[in-house]
Amino acid sequence: MTVKTILTEPNKILRQVSLPVEKVGNEERRLMDDMLETMYDAKGIGLAAIQIGVPKRIIVMDLSKEGEKKHPMYFVNPVIKNKNEVLSKYEEGCLSVPNQFIEVNRPSMCEVEYLDYNGEKKNIKCDNLLATCIQHEIDHLEGITILTYVSKLKRSMIEKKLSKTKANEDRVVL
Ligand code: NI
Repeated sequence: MTVKTILTEPNKILRQVSLPVEKVGNEERRLMDDMLETMYDAKGIGLAAIQIGVPKRIIVMDLSKEGEKKHPMYFVNPVIKNKNEVLSKYEEGCLSVPNQFIEVNRPSMCEVEYLDYNGEKKNIKCDNLLATCIQHEIDHLEGITILTYVSKLKRSMIEKKLSKTKANEDRVVL
């Protein structure tokens, strides 16, 4: 397993719409392993393949708390089948939008159809943090990040800030 570099806003690759996976094979499983390792390393709870530059409809998540047994989840070609009309508000963070927390309203419950790590067709009913997280990750597959949910002005301010941070990281410090 390899820890990959996570792309951050305003990287245009994050705008790409990811493509469906035809078959869950060893290559896809290796990708999922790397994604999970990358997510754990960055202390995130969810990661979409496009965040490491791979435009495939694959998501990994683990909502277990620190100190609890790890509970990795893998979603290939996830599709939201049902969602309720009641919205819930959550201050979301994103590994591709470091140090920013943005309030997003999403359906508080949803049902998702997907293929698992072994390519088997599965269905999961989600609520609370699971519903928020899976919808956030499915957004990534459509090229959407949480910056879509803020005003244009706020978005450009955040993007400017993030670009600057990145520039500093590249500088050689003696
Ligand atoms: Ni994210």
